[in-house]
Amino acid sequence: MRSPAHSGVQSPRCNEYGDMRVLNLYCGLGGNALHWPEYCEVTAVDVEPKVLDVYAAHRPNDKIVEGDAHSYLLENINDGWDFIWSSPPCQSHSRMQKATRHDCLKYPDMSLYQQVLLLTHHFDGKWVVENVRPYYEPLIQAQSVGRHLFWSNFIIRAKEIPQPKDFIFLGTSADTQKLKDWLGIQYEGNIYMGGNHCPGQALRNAVHPDLGLAVLESSILDEQKDLFA
Ligand SMILES: C[S@@+](CC[C@H](N)C(=O)[O-])C[C@H]1O[C@@H](n2cnc3c(N)ncnc32)[C@H](O)[C@@H]1O
Repeated sequence: MRSPAHSGVQSPRCNEYGDMRVLNLYCGLGGNALHWPEYCEVTAVDVEPKVLDVYAAHRPNDKIVEGDAHSYLLENINDGWDFIWSSPPCQSHSRMQKATRHDCLKYPDMSLYQQVLLLTHHFDGKWVVENVRPYYEPLIQAQSVGRHLFWSNFIIRAKEIPQPKDFIFLGTSADTQKLKDWLGIQYEGNIYMGGNHCPGQALRNAVHPDLGLAVLESSILDEQKDLFA
């Protein structure tokens, strides 16, 4: 099931033993990582065992850590990663949160900005923090691609991946299959997360694999540019 898709871009950090060390925080079902090349040695962290089972089925060579990604970053930031990707939960920042605030008013989760600041000032490798476009003006400037915002220390050269029609409302079991096919992530039945009753939520949370690959490759191209500057 694991996709070997690889566009031919080689990391300058990568050697014949395949040692581009990647930390994939809040890995979810692994949409962002599905097309990452074999030479990436990935450690994937998530708190939800059910999504980790699906992730592991699609990326069997990745190291899986079940636990809190926010503290994992703080405790392991200096462990020699070449690239760190973080996708903290987007619900508290999303426009949908504002639309439903009468039912469940909550503070925006500031771990997003804490991680952006930590990575900006305390990490030497390439990094990206991904989230949705928020209902407010982002507190730190970001790059946008489609419905995503990316904070990073490199220019993201990626195009929006067309989404299935009525993406945000896809919630029936048949719709869920459409989302699975769109992402190329298959599993039996439905996964419900964080008290959400929509079976499409876990899938809609995922970054499309082609976008995940384009972002990783952008970091590599940026590093090659630095090498030859
Ligand atoms: C937006 S999704 C990640 C999507 C993923 N990047 C992808 O492309 O498939 C956010 C994930 O964060 C996980 N999560 C929420 N709180 C967490 C925490 N404190 N530590 C680790 N994972 C957490 C959820 O289980 C969910 O899978």
